Amino acid sequence: MLVKAVLLLSGFAAALGRAEDAPRLAVQPGPQPAAEVASRPAVQLIPRPAALSRPASGLWAAYDQALGAARYIDLSHTIEPAMPVWRGFGNSTFQRAVNKLTGKTFVYAEDGFEASAYRLTTDQLGTQLDPPAHFNPYGAASDEVPATFALRKLVVIDISGKVAGNASYGLTVGDIREWEAQHGRIPRRAVVFVRSDWSRTWPHVDTDVFPQVHLEAVQFLHLQRDILFHGHEPLDADMTSQFDSEGWLLRHGYAQAEGVANLHLLPPTGCLLSTGFAKFRGGTGNYVRFVAVCPPEWPHGTQPGAVPEAPMQFYVQPLVWNDQAGHRTRGP
Ligand SMILES: *[C@@H]1O[C@H](CO)[C@@H](O)[C@H](O)[C@H]1NC(C)=O
Ligand SMILES: *[C@@H]1O[C@H](CO)[C@@H](O)[C@H](O)[C@H]1NC(C)=O
Repeated sequence: MLVKAVLLLSGFAAALGRAEDAPRLAVQPGPQPAAEVASRPAVQLIPRPAALSRPASGLWAAYDQALGAARYIDLSHTIEPAMPVWRGFGNSTFQRAVNKLTGKTFVYAEDGFEASAYRLTTDQLGTQLDPPAHFNPYGAASDEVPATFALRKLVVIDISGKVAGNASYGLTVGDIREWEAQHGRIPRRAVVFVRSDWSRTWPHVDTDVFPQVHLEAVQFLHLQRDILFHGHEPLDADMTSQFDSEGWLLRHGYAQAEGVANLHLLPPTGCLLSTGFAKFRGGTGNYVRFVAVCPPEWPHGTQPGAVPEAPMQFYVQPLVWNDQAGHRTRGP
């Protein structure tokens, strides 16, 4: 215990010692806290080695050359009280948060801010990433999904033509092989989204009869192609009574995305997928913001800086609580 503490302390001291080295300080971006700058007046005078002025990994260069000019496309539905959800879960409600000290609703005019309280009937709502714990108590929960899910290659397999002729059509291994004959082998550890166009009439969608992803297809994608996860537009992977595809996936430790939108705006290859979600302790679902990051020359999507970002846009109409809608709206 003592040895450990001494080691920790000496490690700390070594880190402090390194922090006094000028080059290390010189490369720190952004303003220094005033006190720190004042206590080290010599830092500004030390020449900055050119090699240290940019990150060694080259990721910032990659951002400048590719991601900074890429086209960003939102693939998530907005969560609202009236939205398609399995009727076994039922609808959610939004409320204005109440100050527990006064019993009064927070309002901009009196409190300077407002806040919301959500009563969400399920974590299986809207666009979401099912963690294995949804079906398997030994599988990873919402807060246990690796951070490495954040950014991946995105493959889009389009079965919308077949779905147009059969509303419950399901992705087969044949469809995947057909896609590969045209576009090449699906990259390892990529995300594969199945475009069916089911979501294009959202929120007016059929949650009983919908396009499927058959068990043989998800098994092929994971066992033969080693993908990270697949995603589909409907709220379930298939129409079987025992959730065959979803059950197999989650019980074997794989994740899956559901309720994915806007796939008709994506090319079959060439985009990345950014995945962001909140971490709920022991959670069995993830409300997720999926954003496709597509090449600069792609006709859809928004480039960074093309819309007001910092500050963001201001609106002519203020947000007001709308009892009828059950959430805030702009104007009455
Ligand atoms: C739930 O929301 C749907 C709209 O998605 C609406 O049609 C339905 O009436 C709501 N059900 C209840 C019980 O409020
Ligand atoms: C529609 O697709 C489903 C799932 O692949 C299949 O079971 C069904 O037989 C198809 N229906 C028709 C009319 O082809």
